[in-house]
Amino acid sequence: MSALPAVTVCRGCCCGSGRKHPDLERAHHDALLDRLAGGAAGHARFRTSECLGPCADSDVVVVAPAPGARRAGARPVWLRAVLDATATDAVAAWVRAGGPGAAPRPPALDPHVFVPGLRASEEGRAAG
Ligand code: FES
Repeated sequence: MSALPAVTVCRGCCCGSGRKHPDLERAHHDALLDRLAGGAAGHARFRTSECLGPCADSDVVVVAPAPGARRAGARPVWLRAVLDATATDAVAAWVRAGGPGAAPRPPALDPHVFVPGLRASEEGRAAG
């Protein structure tokens, strides 16, 4: 088993497509995917996925802790609207630093964190 954190980038029916984001070119999504893969290379297990479920939050990225951090209690972090270089680079920087449970989450990701299945009003209670 790899000792690295994991990055899962949704590329299902909505994430990475013009279906939810008609204002963004497919090439934009592809460039961000390449940017994230390159930024995380050697520091995270990286994969794309079919639809993860919360399409309204596309583009969705899930950052999972390395196994040791998970055993210590860290949990996967779901990120919504990862649609620009700032968010993409913050994800890459986080996993280069060790990811969830091993390094603080970059503040640039704060507005992207969500809990799938919870309404926004419930997320505040869940996080607090
Ligand atoms: S396509 Fe990404 S959550 Fe559905």
